Amino acid sequence: MKADVLLGLQWGDEGKGKIVDVFTPRYDIIARFQGGPNAGHTLEFNGIKHVLRTIPSGIFRENSINIIGNGVVIDPVVVIAEIEALKKMGVDVKAKLLFAKKAHLILPSHRLLDAASEASKGSEKIGSTLKGIGPTYMDKTGRNGIRIGDITLPNFKTKYAALVEKHKQILSHHNYEYNLEAMEPEWFAAIEELKSYQQIDSEHYLNEAIRNNKTILAEGAQGSLLDIDFGSYPFVTSSNTICAGACTGLGIPPNRIGNVYGIFKAYCTRVGSGPFPTELFDEVGQGIRDRGNEYGSVTKRPRRTGWLDLPALKYAVMINGVTELLMMKADILSGLETLQVCTAYNYQGLQIDHLPFDYSPELLTPVYTELPGWNQDLTGLNNVDDIPEALNNYIAFIEQYTGVPVSVVSVGPDRTQTLMRKAVTV
Ligand code: GDP
Ligand code: IMO
Ligand code: MG
Repeated sequence: MKADVLLGLQWGDEGKGKIVDVFTPRYDIIARFQGGPNAGHTLEFNGIKHVLRTIPSGIFRENSINIIGNGVVIDPVVVIAEIEALKKMGVDVKAKLLFAKKAHLILPSHRLLDAASEASKGSEKIGSTLKGIGPTYMDKTGRNGIRIGDITLPNFKTKYAALVEKHKQILSHHNYEYNLEAMEPEWFAAIEELKSYQQIDSEHYLNEAIRNNKTILAEGAQGSLLDIDFGSYPFVTSSNTICAGACTGLGIPPNRIGNVYGIFKAYCTRVGSGPFPTELFDEVGQGIRDRGNEYGSVTKRPRRTGWLDLPALKYAVMINGVTELLMMKADILSGLETLQVCTAYNYQGLQIDHLPFDYSPELLTPVYTELPGWNQDLTGLNNVDDIPEALNNYIAFIEQYTGVPVSVVSVGPDRTQTLMRKAVTV
């Protein structure tokens, strides 16, 4: 059995958590492959709303094994808080959650470095969630990092002290005040707690599962346009959010990847800085923000909103090899008389279909096609046959542009508000 991958095609917050939760009954194993607690994946069911940061979104379903892969960076304090919240809801976390030994740890001093680095950038700041993500991946690639498998080894404290010493040296070059000692007790307490959770060699575990015909869903975090290589660098996160990240972040070979589910919102949002060609600054954008509750799950910052950007979506489809598209938050566009869909960009007198390497956002204007909107409230729909004609046309337009079928249309945050247009193959 091949492993399927589910990932975001825009700038994050597409609704990955919701769909992973909806799909989990079809899978034996759910495995997060990159990112860390910069992610906030929201699940809603039975009147409960829950946000997961590090733990895969399959954790609420019976009989699912959830793996935090080697490509993920873990803040012990955050993950223990997540575990405690789940325990209170009756989830048997110890039985269902496995940690890849090779996943790197976020130290308190990584968070300080993140904050100091952002402060030094001034108006050029990335808009990081300040969870220590960038500095932790820097230590990983710089070969200085500490992994969760290290916590039970005798030299753990020595490794910690050596790395913190390096961080203090870097911090001394920043004009940044901090109190590391105040942050350390809860971090070490969380490390002690983590020792009682199962650690695995996830690459062996997952390849064995593939050989034994187990079904696996790899869960992405962030979105393709925040990818360290192919996103809007430097306004990106520090990991490979794209499909290839599932291979490096879990140890699954490329020829064992099956379906690639690409999630996108029926419009666009972005938190933090960086280019956003179709951004809206008017009441239409504010209306989408209000109706869609577009405020960050982690930082509560208002999300920037804009029209659907098809060249960007097609780019994400290309680099991920998306086999099925899943359209989220269609309900939020209800009531707009007409919808604009970006199909190209005008740049210095030329019409282009992808962003040039060195473009200036102020010289670029989107080329829009206007499509009719729909007035109907979609949130109570439970049959694809009841999808309004204008929404079906909107979907057909996207399918034609990208060349990929839209197999799921989501019409509300709850598990049940999910319309399957075609049988999703597993
Ligand atoms: P993720 O990071 O990709 O998992 O997405 P987030 O959880 O950060 O943001 C998506 C938000 O949209 C959450 O508040 C979800 O509950 C909500 N949501 C997901 N799908 C839908 C949908 O189809 N309609 C509406 N109205 N809300 C949705
Ligand atoms: P999920 O998984 C939306 C954004 C930040 C910032 C940039 C870098 O919930 O979709 P970082 O903390 O990685 O240094 O921030 O990336 N960002 C996200 N935006 N959803 C996320 O995760 C994000 N994770 C990071 O806002 O612009
Ligand atoms: Mg999110």
